[in-house]
Amino acid sequence: MAKIQDKAVLEALLRRMYWIEAEMEQLGTWEARIQLMDESIELLQKLSHDSDKHWSILKKWLLIAGISVPMTTPPGLPTKIFNFNGMAPPRMFHEIMKYEILARDAYIDILNADSAVIEEILPDETDRKEFIEDIKSMIKDEEEHRKICASKAGGFKTIA
Ligand SMILES: [Fe+2]
Repeated sequence: MAKIQDKAVLEALLRRMYWIEAEMEQLGTWEARIQLMDESIELLQKLSHDSDKHWSILKKWLLIAGISVPMTTPPGLPTKIFNFNGMAPPRMFHEIMKYEILARDAYIDILNADSAVIEEILPDETDRKEFIEDIKSMIKDEEEHRKICASKAGGFKTIA
């Protein structure tokens, strides 16, 4: 993605990620779990727990930046992100992995956004520093999630 140079683009991306993290938090409760064995359930719960943490972080920044918190699916996202019906566990993890990669890359784009745009939504320097640290820690988490999914996706490993 090209460098973010527009406030509206950054705001829309933060709102979309807020929504995706909420959807991913649901992984811990979904019926999909019944297809999984012990270790995979624990891993799925970790993905779910971290998504819940990311969701709270994004909510905090939406509020601080005065960006409206989405109440319905933001434009550009499907209403239901995951449907694991009839999927074997490797395929499930492969589906989840696509969103882990998407999340990682979205946070990288946010981190690399034009500093003037970040300053526009967060005029306070202390806020900006904390925001950058939060985004960096989420990039780290998402990369870890991608690795977890890749190890469980087995033969479905097709994207880096
Ligand atoms: Fe994740």
